[in-house]
Amino acid sequence: MIDFNLLYDRYVNEFETYANTYADKLHTKPELLGESMLYSLLNGGKRIRPVLALACADVLALPHEEVLPYALALEMIHTYSLIHDDLPAMDNDDYRRGKLSSHKKFGEDNAILAGDGLLNEAYALCFQQCLKGEKYVLASSFLNECAGVYGMIAGQSADLYYSQENKDVSEEELAYIHEHKTGKLLLAPVAIVGILSGKAYLALERFGKLLGLLFQITDDILDVTGDSKQLGKTVGKDEKENKLTYVKLYGLEGAKVRADMCAKDCLAVLEGIDGETDFLKELVQYVLKRSN
Ligand code: IPE
Ligand code: IPE
Ligand code: MG
Ligand code: MG
Ligand code: MG
Repeated sequence: MIDFNLLYDRYVNEFETYANTYADKLHTKPELLGESMLYSLLNGGKRIRPVLALACADVLALPHEEVLPYALALEMIHTYSLIHDDLPAMDNDDYRRGKLSSHKKFGEDNAILAGDGLLNEAYALCFQQCLKGEKYVLASSFLNECAGVYGMIAGQSADLYYSQENKDVSEEELAYIHEHKTGKLLLAPVAIVGILSGKAYLALERFGKLLGLLFQITDDILDVTGDSKQLGKTVGKDEKENKLTYVKLYGLEGAKVRADMCAKDCLAVLEGIDGETDFLKELVQYVLKRSN
């Protein structure tokens, strides 16, 4: 039996140590730029994407130092996406990770730049890795694909598009939004580890896709059932902003049934993977049952 919480915390601590080393070296002029970037990047968040990267590295016996730069780049991209997602022009959220959102703390102008800064720093980390050889270029390029106009940004764009009044919406559009805005950045850590390890990773990739979908279904559910203190963000926003979510299309119970089905699919895929996947199986339960 593994102690899931202990292992999760160990992965988080390893990631935080690495992120802090980066933070110590960040010196911007004006200082406010770096301060606003680190305000959002550090001290908060579940860090599920870095945890997933490190856990998959363990499944494929890949040294953590190979993965950590990508885990940090990914968390930077995720953090920038949250800063921009919270802006008044997008979801207009005042709280994030239990604190004031970036634009509430630093103003919209500085929040936009904090996001831009994190995005650019993410690719600076990737470029450093690319110098090491071809597979690092492939991993960096995959991250770009997941984050960019065929990935998360496309999902965010669709999320906005389908939240307009009187838009005809269907399962297909909903799946597109979730697979892109959230799914791609949960697929990225899994697939990058596969690329770096040079091993066949199709089943793991399938797992990453399903876990990403599960993660956004539970995010939709928590927007209705969650506690804002525990979540660290405002609840009830999706209905207010007319968002196309699992709860909107299938109702709360229907969304819960689909989350259960998706979790079962995740576990079935993990069953077929060679290697020690107990932590990943527990991670599926954690995402399904999460309260933050
Ligand atoms: C929130 O992501 C946005 C979604 C993609 C659903 P997380 O729930 O991973 O947020 P943090 O990183 O823990 O704050
Ligand atoms: C956000 O989805 C996805 C990204 C930031 C890419 P949501 O808008 O549902 O996330 P929350 O609920 O604000 O965290
Ligand atoms: Mg949003
Ligand atoms: Mg939002
Ligand atoms: Mg949400």
